[in-house]
Amino acid sequence: MKRRTLWIGLAALGLAALASGGMGKLLTQSGYTTNWHHIPGKPAGFYQGTEPHGAVLRTFVNNIAYDAIVNKAGGYPDGAIIVKENYAPDSKQLGAITVMKKTKGFEPKNGDWFWAKYAPDGQVLAEGKVAGCIACHSRARGPDYVFSAQVK
Ligand code: HEC
Repeated sequence: MKRRTLWIGLAALGLAALASGGMGKLLTQSGYTTNWHHIPGKPAGFYQGTEPHGAVLRTFVNNIAYDAIVNKAGGYPDGAIIVKENYAPDSKQLGAITVMKKTKGFEPKNGDWFWAKYAPDGQVLAEGKVAGCIACHSRARGPDYVFSAQVK
């Protein structure tokens, strides 16, 4: 079940890549669930989430983001990516995939994060400078719009 869900998720990202020209494809090719790190400070694998994301979450970071967190770099450098899979409470069925990618010069006043949300069927639900994501994440207690990990 878990594996099937994963494949649906990766297929979805492939489709999303067609629509968005980049991020989804990058994630599909990265094999992030096996090749990336779990976000430091959260349990490896599934853990209980808080609103508004799924009741059950899995969060992965690429090497750039991982190094920034582990070394307490103060902020996330260009190219840092955080991927969060959002699951329903009991079934562990994938509901959506949300992504933050630090992109130098993209939107300096809001931390230069590129925001994205993909549905399991491949639909791009949101991408780019997404006001809803920014409004809430700007209240994160951790620096640089990130709730789950401390870089300072
Ligand atoms: C109402 C507040 C709120 C909104 C809106 C919101 N988030 Fe989040 N987000 C959170 C919280 C709280 C967490 C930490 C979740 C946890 O660990 O339970 C989080 C975690 C994340 C993470 C993992 C990194 C981190 O900050 O912990 C990513 C990636 C993410 N959200 C992306 C998005 C994207 C993309 C959007 C918009 C499509 C979005 N979020 C909208 C509150 C929000």
